Amino acid sequence: MCGIVGYTGQKQAYPILIDGLKKLEYRGYDSAGVALHLGNHLAVYKKQGKVAALEAYAGDHPVASTTGIGHTRWATHGEPSDRNAHPHYSASGNIAMIHNGIIENYAQLKNELAGKGYTFNSDTDSEVLLNFIEDIKHNNECTLEEAVRVALKRVTGAYVILLIDTEHPDTIIAARKGSPLVIGVGKGEHFLGSDASPMLAYTKEVVYINDYELAIVRPDELILKNLGNERITPFVQKLDLELAAIEKGNFDHFMLKEINEQPKTILDSLRGRLNAEQGYITLSGLDKIEEKLRQAHRIVIVACGTSWHAGLIGEYLIEELCRLNVEVEYASEFRYRNPIISPQDVIIAISQSGETADTLVALENAKKQGATIFGIVNVVGSSIARITDAGAYTHAGPEIGVASTKAFTAQVAVLQLFALKLAQLRGTVDPAFFRQLLHELEAVPAKVAWILDTQVEAIRTIARRYKEADNFLYLGRGYNFPIALEGALKLKEITYIHAEGYPAAEMKHGPIALVDEKLPVVFVATKDVYHEKIVSNIQEINARKGKVVAVVSEGDETVNDLAEAVMVVPQAHEIVAPLLSVIPLQLLAYYIGVERGLDVDKPRNLAKSVTVE
Ligand code: F6R
Repeated sequence: MCGIVGYTGQKQAYPILIDGLKKLEYRGYDSAGVALHLGNHLAVYKKQGKVAALEAYAGDHPVASTTGIGHTRWATHGEPSDRNAHPHYSASGNIAMIHNGIIENYAQLKNELAGKGYTFNSDTDSEVLLNFIEDIKHNNECTLEEAVRVALKRVTGAYVILLIDTEHPDTIIAARKGSPLVIGVGKGEHFLGSDASPMLAYTKEVVYINDYELAIVRPDELILKNLGNERITPFVQKLDLELAAIEKGNFDHFMLKEINEQPKTILDSLRGRLNAEQGYITLSGLDKIEEKLRQAHRIVIVACGTSWHAGLIGEYLIEELCRLNVEVEYASEFRYRNPIISPQDVIIAISQSGETADTLVALENAKKQGATIFGIVNVVGSSIARITDAGAYTHAGPEIGVASTKAFTAQVAVLQLFALKLAQLRGTVDPAFFRQLLHELEAVPAKVAWILDTQVEAIRTIARRYKEADNFLYLGRGYNFPIALEGALKLKEITYIHAEGYPAAEMKHGPIALVDEKLPVVFVATKDVYHEKIVSNIQEINARKGKVVAVVSEGDETVNDLAEAVMVVPQAHEIVAPLLSVIPLQLLAYYIGVERGLDVDKPRNLAKSVTVE
């Protein structure tokens, strides 16, 4: 949700900033801009639209500079437009600033500034904060660093800000609360970014900045302070990430690359944790809170979007295998509805980015009430990972496509490990069945590879056939119900076709009224305990002339005559089956998006990391 970059060093800043913005575009692409130090003045170039539009515009202007900052925006306050694009100039024109986050008390600050005669060139909360900083600098006759510190004590909300000013040609001031900031340490140069991707080509030494920290960044110097002006020693870490992991390689889109990575990413999430031969699971994070889990009265799973769908699968798994009460909550509802939480509760937080604002605040609230937090997070060192008591990383690698695919299957795989291990600890699973499930889980990566090898052409044909539909219905039962929800969400995000996911039986209680000869209905109808029931549901749709498309198990012919088209997945126990049945639905959404000529990696209005509530 807004990407920020910065560079100060000996190299030309502009190409580094542009390249960095392209890497961060997944965080928002309503507008993009850069501010550069050009000797005795600052230059700001900004444009509505993607980074390519900025590049086309700024290319005709002076850009020779060794210090600059850049921003790619996901609009919050103020429509996407040139004037609301970042960076913003302060009223004097002497400071330029970019901001990721939301300043909640901006209206109050704006009134104060308006009373002093300030006028504004944009509708953003960010420009208000910038002028508030400049006003303090002017009144207190202090440095920019001091003014930022004083201003931030008055600010409520979330931010990462980067500022440059005319007085300090090689200095970037940065501060964070609630939004991510990484500083890359090079030789005589520093890089700043919302994540490490903009700096990966130059350095692997990074410092993750914490909330309420302020950085003064120069080519040869990184000074870190708290808001009380005390020095903090920067903790330099080595990144365990290769450049290839954040590039598209030979694929047309990141989404397709990430779908195809799933045999490996699922394996990575199981690696070193699952030993089917000897019949055990190692999950050190779970061991850390084993006693809490033994005593737990219930588990509450908190997440948003696709991660919430993984949470629903987690609910079914933990209830079935561990006989423990589970509730799955939308983080945005959970944080505000004054939920009853006790120290006997274990909260599982699921998040790809580890930065989702609603999930983060829901966890902070639960923690204050004594709950124990277990994190299932993809991004190492992210805010959510850092506030948990224990956890298991999903190890899916960077997910750049805005629609989540490989992160989802990695989350489900980790939930399966978690549920199986907990069931073993609680003695609620038969040892022979436990071993059978470990073998089932171990076989998943190869089965996913089989789907990717054999089903793509069939799915492309289905995509061509239904690409013009205005609506889709996705139906599933049991473990495949969350997969129906996920399939519908993928379709909405990537193709802008309206889609609804429903429990297949619930369809009779309303949505069946939508069914006519134009409506494609996608059934997730793999061979499981619900199979006969879902076949009846398919017949009910056929009777109303709906167009049935089904995900079916290899070798099961029952549905073939009832459906216009099928997508086949290998046979698997129903507990691991969601890891397979979701793959054709990801591909279906992807290929319909491609058929409709859409930018599937950057769907309109979306951003990868939702750091505003
Ligand atoms: C959908 C998608 C979103 C995210 C949601 C939560 O494809 O990616 O629904 O799942 O915004 O994000 P994380 O998992 O980063 O907390």
